[in-house]
Amino acid sequence: TDKYAVVGCPIGHSKSPLIHRLFAEQTNQDLIYEAILIDPEDSSFGWAMADLKNQGYKGINITVPYKLDAFEFANELTSRAKTAQAVNTFRFMEDGKTSGDNTDGIGLVNDIEINGNCPFKDKKVLILGAGGAVQGILEPLLDKLPGLVHIANRTAKRAQVLGERFQTQVPITASGWEDIPLQKYDIIINGTSASLEGKLPPVSTEVVGENSLVYDMMYGAKPTVFMDWAKQAQPNCKTMDGLGMLVGQAAEAFYIWRNVRPDTTPVIEEVRKLIA
Ligand code: ATR
Repeated sequence: TDKYAVVGCPIGHSKSPLIHRLFAEQTNQDLIYEAILIDPEDSSFGWAMADLKNQGYKGINITVPYKLDAFEFANELTSRAKTAQAVNTFRFMEDGKTSGDNTDGIGLVNDIEINGNCPFKDKKVLILGAGGAVQGILEPLLDKLPGLVHIANRTAKRAQVLGERFQTQVPITASGWEDIPLQKYDIIINGTSASLEGKLPPVSTEVVGENSLVYDMMYGAKPTVFMDWAKQAQPNCKTMDGLGMLVGQAAEAFYIWRNVRPDTTPVIEEVRKLIA
């Protein structure tokens, strides 16, 4: 039986063991998946990884606060891990090397395209935030060739730097909250950590259209304040929280390890029931 785990600190509330167990059942894969705490007081990230390798683990997911350590630990990086500058998935290879990938972005993109039924192609996209979470989604998102992308952030400079780093054929602009070009966006993604504190990025409701898809990368038992804000602006707009992104990043890691793609929809429903 192949062994996998998620590491982080704290790790007790991680949904990943449940998600991977459901994937394994669905696809008839024989594996175990655990949650392992790496307490920075007790162990360095590098030592902990060497230990898990020795114990024969085949792959590891990495969560807060180790995604940057994981980026530095990996011997090989995929393109999307390089641009995200963070790693959430390791594959321990036969030759002893560690391959690092980042599946967060593709998890979000697939959630919006498949579960949200909204392909990015030619869409007008507004992204709020310019931190690590947003950096992680830009490459997979731009690969889908949206019509335009605007990044807005509390600190405008940070959005501008990010916009400049991701120059592709897709027009990409950046600003602070006040200077967002006012138009209806097809897809609006909140990648700020403001929701964590129950706060809203101060954005004009004019950006929300009747047919917009409004996505919050956070999730919880109830709709987030950001989702409520969008619904108040446009009762018919579609809102989604980040639970599908969580399951989506797990699905992509599962695919990397097992070469099988699980169906995320029933798993999202199952996890949703448990957090209700
Ligand atoms: P993460 O990994 O979650 O992206 P991060 O790199 O610290 O974490 O980035 C946090 C993001 O949320 C940033 O875009 C931050 O804005 P600044 O770049 O101006 O700091 C944004 N953010 C955090 N708290 C916020 C708040 N109360 N209101 C609006 N934006 C907030």
